[in-house]
Amino acid sequence: MITSSCIPVQQCASYCSLFLEDKSCMSACEVVKHLEPFRLSLEKLKVVSTRLRKDMIRGLGKHTHHRAAVKMLPTFVRATPDGTEKGDFLALDLGGTNFRVLHVRVMEEEQKMVKMDSQLCAIPQEIMLGTGEQLFDHIAACLSEFLDSQNLKGQTLPMGFTFSFPCEQKEIDKSILIRWTKGFNCSGVEGEDVVKLLKEAIHRRGDYDISSVAMVNDTVGTMMSCGYRDQTCEIGMIIGTGTNACYMEEMKNVKRVEGEDGQMCINTEWGGFGDDGSLEDILTEFDKVVDRTSINPGVHTFEKMISGMYLGEIVRLVLMKLTEKKLLFKGEVSEALRTKETFETKFISMIEDGLENAKKILTELGLTWDLVDARVVRLVCETISSRSARLCAAALATIVDRIRVNRGLPHLKTTVGVDGTVYKKHPNYSDELQKAMHFLTPDCKIKFLVSEDGSGKGAAMVTAVAQRLALQSRLLEESDGEEDEEEKVRS
Ligand code: GLC
Repeated sequence: MITSSCIPVQQCASYCSLFLEDKSCMSACEVVKHLEPFRLSLEKLKVVSTRLRKDMIRGLGKHTHHRAAVKMLPTFVRATPDGTEKGDFLALDLGGTNFRVLHVRVMEEEQKMVKMDSQLCAIPQEIMLGTGEQLFDHIAACLSEFLDSQNLKGQTLPMGFTFSFPCEQKEIDKSILIRWTKGFNCSGVEGEDVVKLLKEAIHRRGDYDISSVAMVNDTVGTMMSCGYRDQTCEIGMIIGTGTNACYMEEMKNVKRVEGEDGQMCINTEWGGFGDDGSLEDILTEFDKVVDRTSINPGVHTFEKMISGMYLGEIVRLVLMKLTEKKLLFKGEVSEALRTKETFETKFISMIEDGLENAKKILTELGLTWDLVDARVVRLVCETISSRSARLCAAALATIVDRIRVNRGLPHLKTTVGVDGTVYKKHPNYSDELQKAMHFLTPDCKIKFLVSEDGSGKGAAMVTAVAQRLALQSRLLEESDGEEDEEEKVRS
């Protein structure tokens, strides 16, 4: 029964159905109260989107970039594919717990990319947290093995290197790591040119050499691989271990790069949104614990609310809290649930897929549960994944609307290339995201295209487009005159 002390009454009513007779409606209300801070209204999402819009402008500005939380990094990719690209390429992919090498053939006639072969090398934790030299020696060794197995050591194929971390790109083949994100923290790499470190490691071996290298963020690879199939694709988005997006910006707004004409792809690094405290009002106590106990506190605040590396841990912390409050598992926490990162993000997708999965997972975690517990756990998972999808929608809406305004259009029709396990594997994530987008950008018609191996084939495509354009630009120094957009808006 709903009593007057049940707050908020309307929401409580829908959640009371979670509970069986032996539990009071009060418990339902208690659970709802604990989950309330994760529920972001569409109005709040609009506020978040407005904040991101301002941060993006700051990130693009020559004089404001250095203090921007959202870095808006120029990628030196000035065009999306036009379908005439062709040739054989090597692609390297580093961004998660594995490193991959691929041999990709781009075929103009059939407008398709074929993966000729590939090899996967695990990156053990001690290397992820070791020295830069160890990391690049490991990569060079893996590449050597692959070239041997493919009989490619005699050839020097152009190479695309997907390096999915925030880099200040000076040119297409010169890219300085700003900071590690996700699970990496190798010493001696931040502030260094990643291409140089790779070449040095290859020279240390001396058994092969490489020619040109195009550095690519995974978002860019995703946009480019989708762009080969759909030439209206001008946004790339990742919701996987980390989250980020890139898009085609007008050159005249990219104040840090010489030239006014055409466009350049900008790697937003939106994961860093909130690092200056701008999201304080929507951070929950659980987000704060996730940040504090991560290997990089204070870094990538937005990413920590959204991406696969953190979602499971947020759920675990909420379950712990509900158990301590005796709202779950009769107040009994298991050893597994007490241990950091034991609740994997993939469990969220599995639990939302069916209550039977929830029961299996809770048993595996050593918990004694009843049907109500299983339902509450599913509700917690839904709440955390839905917040993630809605926050992503708010950020994506900001980008889509910026492109629309840039072009002076009342309506925009565009395509977003998407990759990442959270987006691809979760049963409702894409629906939730698209629903929120519909409300946030009613003036835009957006098509979502799931990328097929953007990090691999996309890197080859960037290299192919780069070859086609033979592009080169230089970063302008901060001291070069010219007003930033933020300054113009203010004056
Ligand atoms: C992290 C990285 C970013 C990457 C994203 C998705 O946010 O900083 O460069 O694109 O993860 O992998």
